Amino acid sequence: MKEERTKVILITGGAGGLGSEMAKELAALGHHLYLLDLPDVEAKAEELTAVLERAGGRAKFIPVDVTSETDWERTVYLIAEEAGRIDVLINNAGINIRKVVEDMVYDEWMQMMAVNTGSVFLGTKYVLPVMKEQREGLIINMSSVCGLVGHLYTPEAYTASKGAVTMFTRAIASRYASYGVRCNSIHPSTVDTPFIREQLKNPDFAAERLGEVPLGRLCTAEDVANAVKFLVADSSSFINGTSLTVDGGTTCY
Ligand SMILES: NC(=O)c1ccc[n+]([C@@H]2O[C@H](COP(=O)([O-])OP(=O)(O)OC[C@H]3O[C@@H](n4cnc5c(N)ncnc54)[C@H](O)[C@@H]3O)[C@@H](O)[C@H]2O)c1
Repeated sequence: MKEERTKVILITGGAGGLGSEMAKELAALGHHLYLLDLPDVEAKAEELTAVLERAGGRAKFIPVDVTSETDWERTVYLIAEEAGRIDVLINNAGINIRKVVEDMVYDEWMQMMAVNTGSVFLGTKYVLPVMKEQREGLIINMSSVCGLVGHLYTPEAYTASKGAVTMFTRAIASRYASYGVRCNSIHPSTVDTPFIREQLKNPDFAAERLGEVPLGRLCTAEDVANAVKFLVADSSSFINGTSLTVDGGTTCY
């Protein structure tokens, strides 16, 4: 079997629930990781990089606010200089202000758009020149089941922000494929991470989320990390512009 190429991979929200699980899995495969996350989570992120390095992996934390164009410009430049290339960008950072449209104020709507959608635009904008120069690169955008359906249980701003990520992914996949750059999105159903952990403590909320999954269990961070590993693998080189659901069939009906 052909040996898997070691890749330089950037993960935004790398210290969070899904980000840290993908980091563990990708580091175990020997990939060289850069975890980009807010300065407030530095201690947690440094603890994670230490765990990854003790297990033989290569990982570095860089404090970044993914809504800041200056942060992206500086960070991509630094990584490209240090690592010599950027193979994969995983736009994973995200937030959810859980208010329905009637209760939400415009600033909250814009904050949702800035973090969930603006960050995907900025990350893509700054890695594209590096990837085009290499004639090779992969961008993975973390959308959601909410990026595919008007999810009944989720407030509208989240759904709108993730829907934009789905279509941005397809637009990049079609425009930049001729430069060797591929772009795919991942669409998990509810995963028990800090993102939603408080709400899942409510038995009615948990039952609602469980009840919508045909496979009868919640998605796990490992399920999502497995989908990421699949897309990162050399054997996925013909997969471009796909919306990969990791939802136990939730979006089938
Ligand atoms: N957990 C779920 O049920 C679920 C389901 C579908 C999709 N998602 C998506 O998966 C992604 C990861 O979610 P998670 O469950 O790991 O959430 P999480 O809250 O555990 O982690 C999110 C991470 O993003 C970081 N982040 C937030 N704003 C940032 C900013 N401005 N700059 C840099 N980093 C920032 C946070 O510090 C955190 O480490 C999100 O995009 C989320 O929308 C989550």
